[in-house]
Order: sequence, then structure tokens, then C-alpha cells
Amino acid sequence: MGAEPAWDAPLRLLGGLHALVLSGRASWGDIEGALEEHADFLSRAVADRPVQTNEVQRCWVLLPCFLELARLSGHTRLDLVELGPSAGLNLMWDRYRYVYEAGDWGPEDAALTLRGRERRPVPPELLELRPRIGRRVGIDLAPVDVTTDEGALHLKSFIWGDQVHRLELLDRAIQTLREAPPQLIRGDIADELPRVLANRSKAALTVVWQTSVLGYVPDDSRRRVYEALAEAGAERPLGWISAGSSRRPPEHEWALKVRLWPAHESSVVAHADYHGAWLEWVE
Ligand SMILES: C[S@@+](CC[C@H](N)C(=O)[O-])C[C@H]1O[C@@H](n2cnc3c(N)ncnc32)[C@H](O)[C@@H]1O
Repeated sequence: MGAEPAWDAPLRLLGGLHALVLSGRASWGDIEGALEEHADFLSRAVADRPVQTNEVQRCWVLLPCFLELARLSGHTRLDLVELGPSAGLNLMWDRYRYVYEAGDWGPEDAALTLRGRERRPVPPELLELRPRIGRRVGIDLAPVDVTTDEGALHLKSFIWGDQVHRLELLDRAIQTLREAPPQLIRGDIADELPRVLANRSKAALTVVWQTSVLGYVPDDSRRRVYEALAEAGAERPLGWISAGSSRRPPEHEWALKVRLWPAHESSVVAHADYHGAWLEWVE
């Protein structure tokens, strides 16, 4: 008897089919033909092509958290470290434009504008802050290089064909990233984060964050990440943003927590949709 297929085998198969459609080698109108003609490619896709996503709409709920850390710390320069950034599109957040009830934020000529629904609005005074970004570093076990067509196709193929708006956001974010790509370190966050934090600049507030990553790593790795943060934060100020389950119904809702070491405790600054569609600012 053969091995059981992986739980995500159907997603990998659909991603492989979508990659064929996006590159003009197959059409949704003839799936049977594609399965037959591209059987080798699709078998390899199921075996070797892991599902990868990078949700740029999440920047819309993250921006007020970055600004809150700038406000709390008084720093005008932030250095960014994202844990599990996938392609690193969210490391480019200051290059996108944002629309909130209290006002817009970001470059007027940005290729990408992000909008969402505010259940409780972001305070206007936060949106007046304009921190500069210094370094942009991501640590990922399998970073996706979207400066290559192959990498871009990889991410796009895991957004389903009828999600036209998400595909457009992704395209525009990729275009932005290609102008000045962030540094992506290939490795485990538990191993690499202490090294990255040891080399942080004194001229900026380093802000580390994670969305949809820590929930997937083993307990021991999570413990090592928290230890690295606490150790670095005891030395000098360090910002941290983490999205975790808000534990209030319905599911798929996040509590966004912000912490500024060494003086501040972690606090929930917002509840948000898991994909960044809505935000409820609580501070
Ligand atoms: C679901 S994706 C989320 C990507 C991005 N954070 C976002 O919100 O769009 C999870 C990412 O975490 C990475 N990852 C998972 N475990 C990791 C680990 N132990 N060390 C580094 N990266 C990890 C995966 O490779 C993947 O790129």
C-alpha cells in the first residue's frame, strides 16, 4: 500500500493547476485535458510544491500597531524584522497607501492602496506619525523570491482564480517589492532571531512581528523565540507585534498584541479579521 497523501495534497494539486493556467499552459475549461497532458508536472507539484501564501492585506491592520510602537517609544526610525515573512511583502508596508476613517497614510503615488472596515476607528493622532524605515529583514524556512517570475507565479498560484481582488493586491505588492527587495534570511526563526537581534542598530527601534507563523512552530522553538526577544529587550528598547487568536467568537478573529521592552507589558491594541479585512482598535 502507498503512503497516505499529505493533508494539503488537494491544495497543492489546485495550486499546480492554477500555475499552469496563469502561465497559459492550461485552461479551467479543460481540467481533464490538463490532468492528462501535464500529469508529470502535477505529480511533482503535489510532491514538492508546498502551499505558500503572503497576505498583504494584513498590512492594513498592522500599520496602526507599528505607529503605536513609534508613539510609545518616541523613535522616528524603525528597523523591521519579520518572522516567517514568506516573500517579505509585508516588510514593505511603509511603501503602500492606506485609507482609514480618520485619514490616509503613505505615499500618494504608491502602486498599492489598502482599505478595510473599521469597527472602531484608528485614532487620528496615530496616523500623523511618519516613522522612517531603516533595515528590513525577514527570517523564513522557505522564503519565496518574488523578484523572479517563478517565485511570483508560486505565490499567485495559491490564490484561487476567482479571487481577482487578492490577485491584484498581490501583483501590486510584488511590483513595489521589486523596486527595493528586503533581506530574506533562509532559516529557522528560533536559530536566526538571536543573531539578527545581536546585530541591531542603536539608531532605531527594532520592531519584530509575526502573523500566522508562531501558531505553527513547535513549542520549543516558540519558547526560544520569546527568550531571544526578552533577552534583547532587557538590554535596550525593542518592539514586538504578534497576532494570535482573540479567543472571542467567531473564530478567524485575531487579537493584535503590542509590546515595547523593557518598560511596557504586552497589551491588546486591536481585534482584527484574520486576513485583514476589518479592524477594531481598542486602545
Ligand atoms: C502562513 S505563512 C505566513 C506568511 C506571512 N507571515 C503572512 O502573514 O502573510 C507562514 C510562513 O512561515 C514560515 N515558517 C514556518 N515555520 C517557520 C520557522 N520555524 N522558521 C522560519 N519560518 C517559518 C513558512 O515558511 C511560511 O513562509
